Amino acid sequence: MTMTNAGQKTRLAVFASGNGSNFEALAQACADGRLNAEIVLLVCDKPGAYVCERAGRFGIETFAFRPKEYASKAEYERRIVGLLDDKGVELVCLAGYMRILSDVMLEAYRDRIVNIHPSLLPAFKGAHAIRDAFDYGVKVYGVTIHYVNGELDGGRIVDQRAIYYDGDDIDELEAKIHAVEHVLYVDTVARLIGSRG
Ligand code: GRF
Repeated sequence: MTMTNAGQKTRLAVFASGNGSNFEALAQACADGRLNAEIVLLVCDKPGAYVCERAGRFGIETFAFRPKEYASKAEYERRIVGLLDDKGVELVCLAGYMRILSDVMLEAYRDRIVNIHPSLLPAFKGAHAIRDAFDYGVKVYGVTIHYVNGELDGGRIVDQRAIYYDGDDIDELEAKIHAVEHVLYVDTVARLIGSRG
C-alpha cells in the first residue's frame, strides 16, 4: 500500500453498521497516540446504530445513511467516495460493516480497504462466523484482517491471530475473540500505515 503524507497522521475512515467496539478500539488508539492516525469519518449504513454514539463521544464526524434512500449501491457509494476524497482518506477500515462493496468503492480505494473478521479465514465466512465455528466444534478460533474485494470476506490476508478454546460457553468465547480483535486491528493498522511509501 502506498500512502503519501509521510510524517503526518494518516487519515482513516471506518465503516460500521452496529455496535462499534472495533471502531472504538481504533478511535481510542488514535486518541492515545498509539496510532499515528486520525479517524476523519465514520460511515454507517444504519442511522441510530450504537457506533454513531461512540463516534459522537470521540467528536468524530459521521455520515449515516439509509441505503434504501438511494437508487442503487453505486449511487450511495459514489456519495461516500466523494466524502472520502474530500477528507483525503488514505485507508478505509471496515469494522462490522454488513455490506459487500461494489466496484465504485473498490476501484476508488483499491488496495486501501481492509476488513476484520472473527474467524481464521478462509474458514467460516459470513455474519455468524463465531456461532458457526462453535457449532462445528472448532478448537482453534481466530481473527483475520484482510484486504477487501467484491466477495464476502474475500481478499488477501494481512494478518491473523489464533485463539485456542475448548469450553462450552459461547459468550465467553465471543468475549475472548473480540478482545483479540481490538488488539489485532490496532496493531495491523499501525503496521500498514507505518509501511506507507
Ligand atoms: C466483529 O466481530 C468483526 O470482526 C465483524 O463484525 C463484528 C463487529 O463488532 N466483522 P463491533 O461492531 O466492532 O463491536
